[in-house]
Amino acid sequence: MNRSTPRTSRAAAAGGRAVGAVVRPAAEGDLDGIAAVGSESFSGLSPVSEARRWVGACWRASPRMQYWVAVSKGVVVGYILWLEKGGFRKEAVFELEQVAVRAGQRGHGVGEALIRSSLDDIRTYLRSRGARLKLVEVTTGSEQGALGFYARVLGTEQVACIPDLFRGDEFVLIAREPPSAPPR
Ligand SMILES: CC(C)(COP(=O)(O)OP(=O)(O)OC[C@H]1O[C@@H](n2cnc3c(N)ncnc32)[C@H](O)[C@@H]1OP(=O)(O)O)[C@@H](O)C(=O)NCCC(=O)NCCS
Repeated sequence: MNRSTPRTSRAAAAGGRAVGAVVRPAAEGDLDGIAAVGSESFSGLSPVSEARRWVGACWRASPRMQYWVAVSKGVVVGYILWLEKGGFRKEAVFELEQVAVRAGQRGHGVGEALIRSSLDDIRTYLRSRGARLKLVEVTTGSEQGALGFYARVLGTEQVACIPDLFRGDEFVLIAREPPSAPPR
């Protein structure tokens, strides 16, 4: 994906809900905002200085790792991090490594818009290199309550459970031929 030509999309793809945020590929200036949202969302990203260090490392792993952000009134209110697995394959496998929305703004469609819009961009990127998206993998902690969310937005099915991974059991979910974003 090309960081220099960000494609923005109003985050209204989320089931028609107007969420008041714009989703676009992240820029380097977004990394502090990503770290702030990540730090309040994941126990492994605390304190925020450690979150920033990790976010910086992921950023430098481009194009293997790619961030998108949801921005409202100039502030990063959410982000998604994708990771390409197993090489730059023709039949590409991507892992949704993290998605998070600022605590006060959850439940308004920003998370869904982040997934749909970034997946749309990933498909475009893959087409440009003669590849296609074969499969999406995502893991989520049993305590995070995101199972239904991923099933609804990505059409995931649970294929495995890793006992006691981070703070508890971790579900492994996959989606084959994950749904495209509805037309905007
Ligand atoms: C999961 C998350 C990214 C969803 O973002 P969002 O903007 O609230 O998502 P949407 O409004 O598009 O959809 C809401 C869905 O998220 C679920 N959800 C999970 N945790 C939630 C929370 N703390 N607050 C509100 N909704 C939450 C809701 O139950 C709803 O599920 P449904 O699709 O089955 O109805 C967001 O809640 C979040 O940042 N959670 C903390 C970090 C996390 O758990 N990330 C996922 C695991 S990697």
